[in-house]
Amino acid sequence: MSIKEQLESVRDDFLTDLESFPVNDKDIESLKSKYLGRKGLVASLFSLMGKAEPIDRPLLGQKLNSLKDEIYTLFTEKEKRSLKNDPSFQNPNLDFSLPGHVSSSGGIHILEQTLSEVKDIFKSIGFHIAYGPEVDDAYHNFTALNVPEHHPARDMQDTFFINPEVVLRSHTSNVQIHLMESLEPPLKYIVPGRVYRNEAISYKSYCLFHQVEGIYINEKVSFAELKGCLEYFIKQMFGPNKKMRFRPSYFPFTEPSAEVDLWDDEREQWMEILGCGMVDPKVISNVGYDPERWKGYAFGMGIERIAMLKYKINDIRLFYNSDIRFLDQF
Ligand code: DAH
Repeated sequence: MSIKEQLESVRDDFLTDLESFPVNDKDIESLKSKYLGRKGLVASLFSLMGKAEPIDRPLLGQKLNSLKDEIYTLFTEKEKRSLKNDPSFQNPNLDFSLPGHVSSSGGIHILEQTLSEVKDIFKSIGFHIAYGPEVDDAYHNFTALNVPEHHPARDMQDTFFINPEVVLRSHTSNVQIHLMESLEPPLKYIVPGRVYRNEAISYKSYCLFHQVEGIYINEKVSFAELKGCLEYFIKQMFGPNKKMRFRPSYFPFTEPSAEVDLWDDEREQWMEILGCGMVDPKVISNVGYDPERWKGYAFGMGIERIAMLKYKINDIRLFYNSDIRFLDQF
């Protein structure tokens, strides 16, 4: 390194040291002597002068002197403004050795984190995202989905009715209908949102929870594609070794229908996380599409249960009681 380069590097080091300017007298003194002391870095630069070419010496001397002045000025300025000279520091009523207040910062709720993971996975395979109403008419929540008038799902026990015609949606499937009514096929959407059920509360059921609905409508859609899509999702979400199974089931709006269970490692039993199936031709024609031409698959999954399995949370109520000791863990 040339003397000029060494000079620059001493200057850089000094500026860095100055940023974390020490508070106590002893450290200030030692910083001062590190640069300006008799055996300090500036002095050692001066002693290198002898090795420089004679014609370079005057200019170098000038540079070194101005470095020394600069360091000296910056140092004294900083010292003047330092805590040591702050009047409040002299105040005998302040005890600087007391611990400070650690302010806690907020975080993203674990449900919201899980929802974003789910959305990202479906986005990566071509799904768009849509939202729909949480308060809806019974037509969109039930009738258009082929849920007959007397079906137990309409029962007061399951659904929160605002009046006989208006409900808090009991699933996100109502948005399938809104989407198909307003868009021309083909379409491929997921719909995240809150749903409400007047159910017995337990470790895995709560009166409100989140679902992500999926709907894919096109001219050729097969059950194998539905399986492939959901298996891909589970692998992305839980890793390649998660135990899952498709189980035949029944929903009025799909035919055939299935449910997917995941293995709950904690309780050592299956847990149902979603319903799915091929969209029933009756639903296709309810929205005005031609059921001869358009087919589709659909699914609806419970986000709390997915988060419970993924993060080993053993009670759904934990998501809702705002206990910081729980929330802080994620
Ligand atoms: N809506 C159903 C539920 O809440 C879940 C579901 C089943 C959604 C089958 C679908 C589907 O889209 O095709 O239990």
